[in-house]
Amino acid sequence: MKTIIEPFRIKMVEPIKLTTRSEREELIRAAHFNPFLLRAEDVIIDLLTDSGTSAMSSEAWAAMMRGDESYAGARSWYRFRDTVQDIFGFEQVIPTHQGRAAEHILFGMLVKPDSIVPNNTHFDTTRANIEFVGGKPVDLPCRESDDIDSDEPFKGNMDIAALEQLVEEKGPERIPVIMVTVTNNSAGGQPVSMANIREVSRIARSAGIPFYIDACRFAENAFFIKRNEPGYENTPTVDIAREMFSYADGCTMSAKKDAFANIGGFLCSNDAELAQQERNILILSEGFPTYGGMAGRDLEAIAVGLREVLDEHYLDYRLLSTRYVVERLVGAGIPVVTPAGGHAVYLDARRFLPHIAPLEYPGQSLSVELYIEAGIRSVEIGTVMFGFDPRSGEEKPAHLDLVRLAIPRRVYTQSHMDYVLEAISLVWQRRRDVRGMKIVKAPKFLRHFTAEFEQI
Ligand code: F0G
Repeated sequence: MKTIIEPFRIKMVEPIKLTTRSEREELIRAAHFNPFLLRAEDVIIDLLTDSGTSAMSSEAWAAMMRGDESYAGARSWYRFRDTVQDIFGFEQVIPTHQGRAAEHILFGMLVKPDSIVPNNTHFDTTRANIEFVGGKPVDLPCRESDDIDSDEPFKGNMDIAALEQLVEEKGPERIPVIMVTVTNNSAGGQPVSMANIREVSRIARSAGIPFYIDACRFAENAFFIKRNEPGYENTPTVDIAREMFSYADGCTMSAKKDAFANIGGFLCSNDAELAQQERNILILSEGFPTYGGMAGRDLEAIAVGLREVLDEHYLDYRLLSTRYVVERLVGAGIPVVTPAGGHAVYLDARRFLPHIAPLEYPGQSLSVELYIEAGIRSVEIGTVMFGFDPRSGEEKPAHLDLVRLAIPRRVYTQSHMDYVLEAISLVWQRRRDVRGMKIVKAPKFLRHFTAEFEQI
């Protein structure tokens, strides 16, 4: 059968409020042309993020009812810890309220003011958490990631030669940790190959530098390896995941992605001494080590979600449904990052709106137009997000100007995606009339969340 079906039935629904175009024009103006500032109920299809927006299963909801809310040593903690240890293979498991809390604790322990932290591409909270303690995040994406149109299967890889050079030039003393983000969210949601993870691990180990994986979308990444990396066709996805983590010394995880949870995360390693110090910080900022920043019921939901996300029928549907959107856009000649990643579709706003200069934020304009056209909420990943250097106060065009349409897990159906495709093509037809933006108010750090804009 060629028809993609959602491998689940819908048991509970959440009505969507439909709005008119003129209402949306007013709403986005009132939100200062920043989709983050809209009320969610004024959005028809919310593709702002795949984080914390998944639909949980009947099993996960049932498990939540079993949540043991004991302060210390709850049953739910052991279920959570055992599941994490089984899939990720690390001895030390530290529960946090979301991924960035794990980053905050890890970098607070390892990063010093002169430190350099390489990553294939840092996610914005990862970057900010390193900068917050005075370190310098360095992105080392592979060369193929520059070519938006190339169909290379593992464009999320790290540039191995660049990593070797950095380690050689700066020396292991200045590099407290090497990270690889799977999948590479800030570079098109592209996967990282097992071969690349193995190489990064080899370099890290020979230099004596800890190697951590930012594991948010580990199951999607593992399934890309199964589909596209020779030798893994017949390996169960859970074993691919185990192998990925076997090369690392630890991981940070946001359970809001590939664990289907609405909140939660964890930090893992095999270093008992480090973990003890991390637990001291955990107690100050998150909670007791057997619940961290979560309720017992959250621990239960994650334990179920981590198993469900590795179901290959689910993963097959997940990757196919993202590819469905990307292939139709390619077919219509609309510029989009290819090949399709796992959790999101990334429109190339610079080529979609070539008459808008990068410093007039083509990604922001496109995102605003998708809202006006059809009530779709997306996020700019470009010059608004990355163009401003808070230290120098200077602004320059980001590497790329993309608009990310992140697809919440098990939430929208194929007809919702057809609606999204129609909306994009309607904006494409009137693209020459779309205007650029200027920022009228913005904070210094992470300005994309709260900046206010005007149309030029
Ligand atoms: N790392 C990556 C690769 C992420 O994509 C995110 C979050 C985090 C870390 C932080 O996790 O939100 O649980 O604190 N990404 C979301 C997104 C917010 O929309 O891509 P968190």
